[in-house]
Amino acid sequence: MSTARIDSFPEDFIWGAATASYQIEGAVHEDGRGESVWDRFSATPGKVRGGDTGAVACDFYHRYPEDVLLMKELGLDAFRFSIAWPRVLPQGRGTVNEKGLDFYDRLVDALLAQGIEPFATLFHWDTPQALEDEGGWRVRSTAEAFAEYAEIVAARLGDRVKFWMTHNEPWVHAWIGHSWGQHAPGLTSEADAVAAAHHLLLSHGWGVDAIRRAAPEAQVGIVLNLHHAYPHSDSPEDEAAAWQVDGEGNRWFLDPIFRGSYPADLLERNALVAPHVQDGDLQAMAAPIDFLGVNNYFRFIVSAGPDGPRMEHNPEAPYTEMGWEVYPDGLYELLVRVSDDYAPRAIYVTENGAAFGDVRVHDGAVHDPERTSYLETYIGAVGRAIADGAPVKGYFVWSFLDNFEWGHGYSKRFGIVYVDYPTLERVPKDSFYWYRDHIAGRRDAPKPAPVVTG
Ligand code: FCB
Repeated sequence: MSTARIDSFPEDFIWGAATASYQIEGAVHEDGRGESVWDRFSATPGKVRGGDTGAVACDFYHRYPEDVLLMKELGLDAFRFSIAWPRVLPQGRGTVNEKGLDFYDRLVDALLAQGIEPFATLFHWDTPQALEDEGGWRVRSTAEAFAEYAEIVAARLGDRVKFWMTHNEPWVHAWIGHSWGQHAPGLTSEADAVAAAHHLLLSHGWGVDAIRRAAPEAQVGIVLNLHHAYPHSDSPEDEAAAWQVDGEGNRWFLDPIFRGSYPADLLERNALVAPHVQDGDLQAMAAPIDFLGVNNYFRFIVSAGPDGPRMEHNPEAPYTEMGWEVYPDGLYELLVRVSDDYAPRAIYVTENGAAFGDVRVHDGAVHDPERTSYLETYIGAVGRAIADGAPVKGYFVWSFLDNFEWGHGYSKRFGIVYVDYPTLERVPKDSFYWYRDHIAGRRDAPKPAPVVTG
């Protein structure tokens, strides 16, 4: 398996790290922030492991100046963060909370002062509770509110933030939050998930237009969680099962965004989708974007089970603490396939990384060779995809810091920086130093000699 050779990446490739508001900020009652669905959900007994909440998280709201200095030490080109909608609009729409916007203003300025490009996501799952109370993503009015919110934020930050993402992983928010009940808002109805998916896609399209109105120079995209689905065998049944999984996870979002239509096989199988589609919706969802953000951690191996597709385990592969298979080729195949089938103008790998059971040893360090190896081999897969024509322009490690991992609370550590939660001390892990050296390798690489012709 090839690893990460820095020279397989273009010189202007962006090396980044990613985070999300509710997972790191804390300060949930500060400066006029409104309640989000994640505050409500995590305060509900039995929803999050150990009763953990994001009330303090990494306290990034206060500690961002030192974290930005750590990013500088790492040599990051870019930092991906998300904006907490209820900080900006505590009721979801209407009165703007200037103090909430001020925080992102300060963060953006601190990043730019260190030469770090801000990549801003508008929605990473923290819906204002006030909107949830009116139906949340199950209703179209939330999509309208999102477009207003997008325009407000882009108007304030768009003179400095060039890269915008409307949504993070709408599939996860729709299904895990509305059908599986394991994420906020904790609903358990497939019909609600389908409605949420439609309104998320619609609000994405409207959001793209809103950002462009407020910040005409912006590069705008969306972040999808995509997985390559491999049939367990080459039997027609397993192939059909893998195609179904691909439809439900990948094409459900890729087709509307890049082709302006829902996949025909999905519409046939799932009668819940079509009734939501109103005139103009599909056109709105297909608003041209400048880049696709791809989050990828694992692949699927799919067989045809008696009740539909079944996910298979690979007995030969390592798995992370999340129970996710380590399979870098899956990212390679995914990037090449998405490029071939949808021709995005550019791709950023906006999340990739691994949770392992990190501990601080007697010298105070955190040795995480498995994470380093994960990153090295997955980055190598990105390099191969670029060599084979995928227009990948950047890569973001998930995550910069250990953080609140949704339903798992603080039990899963994804950071390349360890967070000692009782003291909130930051401790760069070995993988941090590996990534730092990797990035520096590009900067120090000797420039190729100019080709002399004629
Ligand atoms: C992704 C999420 C991110 C984090 C990682 C591990 O699905 O976008 O917030 O939880 O998984």
